[in-house]
Amino acid sequence: METLGYYNGEIGLLDELRIPMNDRACWFGDGVYEAAISENYTIFALEEHINRFFNSVALLYMTPRITKIQLAELLNTLVHKLDSPAQFVYWQMTRGTAPRTHAFPEHTTPNLWVALKPFILQDIYQKIKLITVEDTRFLHCNIKTLNLLPNVLASEKAKQAGCAEAVFYRGNRITEGSHSNVHILKEGILRTAPKDNLILPGISRAHIITHCGKLGIAVDETPFTLEDMFGADEILISSTSSFCMSASHIDGYHVGGKAPELLRQLQDALLEEFHRYTQSTVH
Ligand code: PDD
Repeated sequence: METLGYYNGEIGLLDELRIPMNDRACWFGDGVYEAAISENYTIFALEEHINRFFNSVALLYMTPRITKIQLAELLNTLVHKLDSPAQFVYWQMTRGTAPRTHAFPEHTTPNLWVALKPFILQDIYQKIKLITVEDTRFLHCNIKTLNLLPNVLASEKAKQAGCAEAVFYRGNRITEGSHSNVHILKEGILRTAPKDNLILPGISRAHIITHCGKLGIAVDETPFTLEDMFGADEILISSTSSFCMSASHIDGYHVGGKAPELLRQLQDALLEEFHRYTQSTVH
């Protein structure tokens, strides 16, 4: 298949599969999701994504009908149905199917959606341009919910400005990107926002921190500011699909470019880990 949609056991092409209007995703965006990538039909860091997914599920008080192991088996089976071995692997759980009422409906169980499409890894070494946008999101950004409207608006604003990503600031503090985490390198130290309710605890962020440990780069997880970012040696954004990319411009100002070797070491380590994992892990 060229693309694959899965809904509670039903399988079809993404363009063709139909979803009931009463799925609470349609009324309230009442659900959580995960996004991973595969290479060689192997989903990278699947266990970490599933753990974060079940954490999001629990934070929305949903009771899954599937275990972590069953979900992993399902995803590993579905990826083999696609023609392409490299895929964007997306899944979400919504609270259920019921007529529209705000409070949780009583007689419903969660719905499981999976969406697979081919994925082409971009050149992570290219420089990207960013804009800054005020963070007007809610206080549950640690939960990977479907409610992404401020992220969508910020991402569109970046696109209109010819930029790859929008960086959110709340007060003076940098939180994260519209669909990425943001980090800076300054005097050999990696600074990244703390894991609180203002950011998504990114899987790539966790891998960056691990690699910093191996490379002897100190990590500071206290909040950093707009000024810190503009004055940084390098500005990095990280996400599942972009790994770790660095910025050359923010809001039209030239930034970063002062610690290219350190940056390259980190990027090389992340890519190497990805290729090693997806070439050697057998499902
Ligand atoms: N987004 N912060 C936000 C708001 C995100 O949406 C994402 C990822 C991240 C990075 O998390 P991770 O390293 O686990 O991918 C941080 C995914 C890719 C998406 O929505 O498609």
